[in-house]
Amino acid sequence: MDEHLVVRRDGAVVTVTVDREDALGALSRSMLEALDGYLPELAADDGVRAVVLTGTGRGFVAGADIGEYHGVDQRRFDDYQRLGRRVLDAVEALPQYTVAAVNGYALGGGFELALCCDAILATERARFGLPEVKLGLLPGGGGSQRLARALGVRFTLRLIATGAMVPAAELYRRGLLEEVYTDAAALRAGASELAGTVAAGAPLAVRAAKRLVREGPALPLPDALGFEQSVLSSLFATEDGREGVAAFVDKRDPVFRGR
Ligand code: COA
Repeated sequence: MDEHLVVRRDGAVVTVTVDREDALGALSRSMLEALDGYLPELAADDGVRAVVLTGTGRGFVAGADIGEYHGVDQRRFDDYQRLGRRVLDAVEALPQYTVAAVNGYALGGGFELALCCDAILATERARFGLPEVKLGLLPGGGGSQRLARALGVRFTLRLIATGAMVPAAELYRRGLLEEVYTDAAALRAGASELAGTVAAGAPLAVRAAKRLVREGPALPLPDALGFEQSVLSSLFATEDGREGVAAFVDKRDPVFRGR
């Protein structure tokens, strides 16, 4: 793993911290390569039920490492963009519930990373933006597309065209953020509580919920409703489904085994 990425496991919750405070968490090529190698391993780990992504100090992730753009040829630039896209797609495709705990600047690829997560929590001082236009460039990790789908084309285009940074409170008001905390300690506690609660739930049901909610909206409604019923039906056939119902009737806590 790259020296600027710290992975910690706490029971069924994994926290990945971008630890590069002196560059506000900017993602270098070697950090992306490390994530590219690690994410399939994380996805395959059935023992992990929730993932928290966070940063340190003033930076969550201030985007791509701009220094690495300087003087590189077109092929290397395009290569970096493909790598970035692969990493962000892999984050979005993780079967586990993912929480972005945004402690500071989430710019460019940092905002795009948060947009790939299932929940975004932030501190009051966190700032979000897609400022690539200031470099004469544009977002390349899905920012123009995922944000437009989440918050609409007008807001997205304003953000990209002005390069403006917006505070967490504004994105909370627009419904993109789940919660805004006063400081980093409260954010950490909130992220760990949310991840812990999800991780303690019935694992097959939680994974199925993620697939259903993420994939269903792309389908026509009748198909999506059919998808929902088929997922529910397959859960009823699992040991966990039987256990959950039996425990309720027996007035005891269920023991879910992920089977
Ligand atoms: N890539 C590389 N280094 C970065 C970086 C990035 N995306 N973002 C910040 N840094 C570095 C700065 O170069 C600086 O390094 P230095 O101390 O060696 O000079 C350090 O992080 C602190 O940043 P600084 O600009 O001094 O802090 P600030 O509080 O004045 O401004 C920002 C903070 C986030 C507004 C500013 O750093 C910025 O605009 N960063 C670029 C964000 C961006 O365009 N992201 C999209 C990239 S495609």
